[in-house]
Amino acid sequence: MQLAHSPNINTGAPAGTVVAVTGAGQGIGRALALAFARSGARLVVSDINAATCAAVCDELRAAGGQAVSLPADITKAEDCEALVAQAVQSFGRLDVMVCNAGIMQLRPLMELGADDWDRMLGVNVKGTFLSLQAAARQMLKQPAPSEGRPRGKIITMASIAGRSGAGPIAAVIPHYRASKAAVISLTQSAAFTFAPQITVNAICPGLVETDMWKRMDRDWTQLQGVEAGQVWQQRVAAVPMGRPQHPDDVAGLALYLASPAADYLTGQSINIDGGLMMS
Ligand SMILES: NC(=O)c1ccc[n+]([C@@H]2O[C@H](COP(=O)([O-])OP(=O)(O)OC[C@H]3O[C@@H](n4cnc5c(N)ncnc54)[C@H](O)[C@@H]3O)[C@@H](O)[C@H]2O)c1
Repeated sequence: MQLAHSPNINTGAPAGTVVAVTGAGQGIGRALALAFARSGARLVVSDINAATCAAVCDELRAAGGQAVSLPADITKAEDCEALVAQAVQSFGRLDVMVCNAGIMQLRPLMELGADDWDRMLGVNVKGTFLSLQAAARQMLKQPAPSEGRPRGKIITMASIAGRSGAGPIAAVIPHYRASKAAVISLTQSAAFTFAPQITVNAICPGLVETDMWKRMDRDWTQLQGVEAGQVWQQRVAAVPMGRPQHPDDVAGLALYLASPAADYLTGQSINIDGGLMMS
């Protein structure tokens, strides 16, 4: 018996895929940019921090990748438009936009000020919206990379913190949780709006060892009056997979979502968290 070949079962982004990543100067964004470059994609590396943005771009080029960098603040519509324009100018199109940039702040609900709220939702929700919208404008007017495929793919970065029932962490990051729940909702609206031309999916990581979590641990241990590192250790002890998450653990899912194997997948928010939250 001969098994029928399915042309869509390809779990890596095809070589030459043009990928833009926001917040790519460090942490998860940097890991995603490196993983996409290793898979043969052409990268637009972007971050509000011009120095880290340029450093990651240099790193990709030194490793033989094709990359350009553009500092951009995702809370500014003109920066998001410029980022997309850079992809088109350098590589002719934009296949994948990874709306990864985000911020975190640890502050109990009754201590939260209006400024804290505005800043958090300004970056995590408005910034995701503006970068997603700028990408969609380009993707809707470009042809599909090959017949029968979507014209583009958008990946947003939500969090398991945006899911219901997050446990004790819910008390200390209420505005972050609200922002990530909004990203999940926005992802669904965008997926519905842009189907079948563009797929839009959210990644929901768990406890990823990045500067963001280092700052969380520092601030949470201070709040609880316990030793540095204790909150992190307690949280990691609850991870069924028995270890903290590395930024590279997120990369495999992003590559899959960008690949032809995920062409029929849209509007989903996928937990990748070592089993912390099962749904
Ligand atoms: N670390 C975790 O445990 C975790 C878990 C779930 C989700 N996430 C999400 O993953 C994403 C990346 O997180 P990380 O852990 O790599 O964080 P990080 O703080 O290490 O990196 C975030 C990057 O975003 C950039 N950035 C911040 N504001 C920006 C703006 N206005 N415009 C452009 N860039 C901006 C920063 O300069 C930085 O390079 C975030 O959206 C975060 O909420 C992280």
